[in-house]
Amino acid sequence: MNVLSVASEVYPLVKTGGLADVVGALPAALVPHGIRTRTLIPGYPAVLQKLKKKKTVGGFDNLFGKPASILAAEYDGLDLLVLDQPALYNRDGGPYLDATGRDYPDNFRRFAALSLAAAEIAGDNAIANWKPDIVHVHDWQTALTPVYMRFGSARATPTVMTIHNIAFQGQFGASAFPELALPPEAFSVQFVEYYGDVGFLKGGLQTATAITTVSPSYAQEILTPEFGMGLEGLLASRVDDLTGIVNGIDADLWNPQTDPHIVAHFGPGTLKRRGANRKALEDRFGLEKDPGPIFCVVSRLTWQKGMDLLAEVTDDIVALGGKLIVLGSGDAALEGALLAAASRHRGRIAMVTGYDEPLSHLMQAGSDAILIPSRFEPCGLTQLYGLRYGCVPVVAETGGLADTIIDANEAALSAKVATGFHFRPVTADGLRLAIRRVFRAYNEPKVWARLQNQGMKSEVSWAKSAERYAALYSGLLAKG
Ligand code: ADP
Ligand code: GLC
Repeated sequence: MNVLSVASEVYPLVKTGGLADVVGALPAALVPHGIRTRTLIPGYPAVLQKLKKKKTVGGFDNLFGKPASILAAEYDGLDLLVLDQPALYNRDGGPYLDATGRDYPDNFRRFAALSLAAAEIAGDNAIANWKPDIVHVHDWQTALTPVYMRFGSARATPTVMTIHNIAFQGQFGASAFPELALPPEAFSVQFVEYYGDVGFLKGGLQTATAITTVSPSYAQEILTPEFGMGLEGLLASRVDDLTGIVNGIDADLWNPQTDPHIVAHFGPGTLKRRGANRKALEDRFGLEKDPGPIFCVVSRLTWQKGMDLLAEVTDDIVALGGKLIVLGSGDAALEGALLAAASRHRGRIAMVTGYDEPLSHLMQAGSDAILIPSRFEPCGLTQLYGLRYGCVPVVAETGGLADTIIDANEAALSAKVATGFHFRPVTADGLRLAIRRVFRAYNEPKVWARLQNQGMKSEVSWAKSAERYAALYSGLLAKG
């Protein structure tokens, strides 16, 4: 079976969050199921520079006003198709934002072009001798693909639309519509019209054959007004086509026995060796060398991620004898609050602003617990990395966090299944209580080691979830 996966980012070429990790790791996990995935991404400068051997396999004379090529290349085991259209993608900033942090004003055009190219590849002859059996699109940036397919030659090809985060919907003013090269009837409730605007995600959810999201709990949550962000009604009407499939992780990239970014390798039987990673963190950030627990946070600094709640509990962590290392970038006010905490508590709290993949590995390998106080979390990956690295997750009880971590309550502890800590409500007080529970468990070395070992034994690879995607694809093909 051939699958065309369409996304705006893919690890290791371009990443702003978990979407890239998922798009980068799923193809290899699908191979044992006889599924060959080609992944279509935009030709950002970072992508074109990293791909050495590229071959032109197709193109468009006029894609939103300019010629465009489709390049094919292999990278790190990924079979990539790259949409090369410099007018849209050759920019100085990131994939979505310019160098000053503002959305590119033509994002609707940049991602409509990606979606249209995908629809053409799925249809007749955009690439000689290749056509997908299934098209799998991710998030709003690629959500117009099934809409274009509906009006093009690939009408009969089944599509899967995965929601990684319903908070980002790709909503643009109605004036964008005439530029989208869609027939007038597409500006209606059945397609892209969304409260008088154009809704990319909305159009995708209306037209995709199947809808998935990245955990079973989030699949339930987005049916409610609290989490559905205006799309709960539409989703309710498609509930039979909606499933939650939890993300896995790339177990080769995130393997504490071989990870090149950490100081000392370790595994379930050799947890003591984590100590060298812990020391490396203490040295690097000038932290005091007492045995108190080191908490870490690796996160976008946003309201979604509860980083304001984290800022409220920093003094408590220190008062209880803990230390904290935060790695993140995002909202300037949240960054300021965390920097202020670090300067109030030199030697106890370190704040690293920016994006640092190698450091994120060392933090998982050397810290004792990872804090994830998200107000909502479709899946979350850092808690899964934590499990694999013996860094005990402390998570808000929501979405994929609730699905992947087993709370260390009495029953779970005595049944030896606990892997971390849940808290609810997701408030500063909720988080404070969870932190107190962490200290209690940390002070009982046997209990703590059991939590770490149990976490390291958890199944976090893609194996099971890839099987579920494979079954979904096969089911769609069988339905024809
Ligand atoms: P989201 O995609 O909502 O940001 P996830 O938990 O799914 O959340 O994925 C976040 C990914 O980005 C993880 O791989 C995490 O390690 C990584 N990450 C987040 N912030 C940083 C950072 N500042 N430096 C390095 N990696 C980061
Ligand atoms: C989104 C979500 C996150 C999820 C990731 C990958 O960024 O916020 O929870 O893990 O996508 O699916």
